[in-house]
Amino acid sequence: MKTKVIKLNPKKPEVSKIKEAAEIIKSGGLVAFPTETVYGLGANALDDDAVKKIFLAKGRPQDNPLIVHVSNINQIDSLVSLIPENAKKLMKKFWPGPLTIIMEKSSKVPSAVTCGLDSVAIRMPKYKIALDLISQSKCPIAAPSANLSGKPSPTIAEHVIDDMSGRIDCIIDGGDVHIGLESTVIDLTHTPALILRPGKITKKQIEKIIPVEEHKHENIDKPKSPGMKYKHYSPKAKIIIVESEKELKDVSKKNSSKKIKQLRYLTKTSMAKKMFRDFREADKQGFDLIIVKSVADKEFGRAIMDRLKKASGS
Ligand code: TXA
Ligand code: MG
Repeated sequence: MKTKVIKLNPKKPEVSKIKEAAEIIKSGGLVAFPTETVYGLGANALDDDAVKKIFLAKGRPQDNPLIVHVSNINQIDSLVSLIPENAKKLMKKFWPGPLTIIMEKSSKVPSAVTCGLDSVAIRMPKYKIALDLISQSKCPIAAPSANLSGKPSPTIAEHVIDDMSGRIDCIIDGGDVHIGLESTVIDLTHTPALILRPGKITKKQIEKIIPVEEHKHENIDKPKSPGMKYKHYSPKAKIIIVESEKELKDVSKKNSSKKIKQLRYLTKTSMAKKMFRDFREADKQGFDLIIVKSVADKEFGRAIMDRLKKASGS
């Protein structure tokens, strides 16, 4: 399959180009597009066959459900059986934005999206290209991150092209994403609400709105969020996490026979934005060891350390 790459101005997406991509979604094809978190790989969420193509293109396990993206709050009515009061509060505060909310699904959502679960994950992204694509497609869009399964999520179009060229119909190149890590996922089918995946929107921020707990990964065979049991975000190179400059130097010295990439970042924001990109670049440049200086495992640092630990296999 030939993959068409459409370049768009992220601030002022050209309507005719968005329409071209939306036609592909409408006709059951796959379009990768930028969101404020990472690039997504989208299909019409109400089209069972189109959604199945996502799993094939990514090599995604059949039991790992997808997030449905909407551009308008009214679209949710037909996707869920009931909108809980807590969901309304969260949507009001955090949408559009990097928060995915899990609710009881309606019969309209194909089981290919939810992998047979009774719940559905929904998010309204903040990026104009994503919102325009959804509204022009006139349907909600199911979209996981646009990487091959197991690889770091793509944060620039080039990385989507690396993974998906020849496998999908179209890639929208809308430049770098803002955040660089996937959305916070919160499960409202559970009381109190559970954070299944940490992200830019932190527990502390959510606690100001509704009671919430963090899901502990104690039962890994039966995780709440099926995606959590799979190896994730991994570059080919081995990753070692260190806590200080001194440790970074010591570990580098001990491994001096290897081709080492050292990663340290000035802020959490820059770490989140660049980490996945740096993993992929390190692989392209043939490094066999990546040593990363950690950040405090709290607030936004929690999401960063979650991805970093998973990438390192720890
Ligand atoms: O920022 C993001 O969330 C990006 C952009 C494209 O929106 N998407 C993304 O999708 O990261 P994905 O498929 O890579 O991660 C979705 C996570 C998975 O861990 C999946 O298991 C979980 O959400 N999930 C989806 N539906 C679920 C459900 N009904 N119950 C529990 N977990 C669910
Ligand atoms: Mg993913």
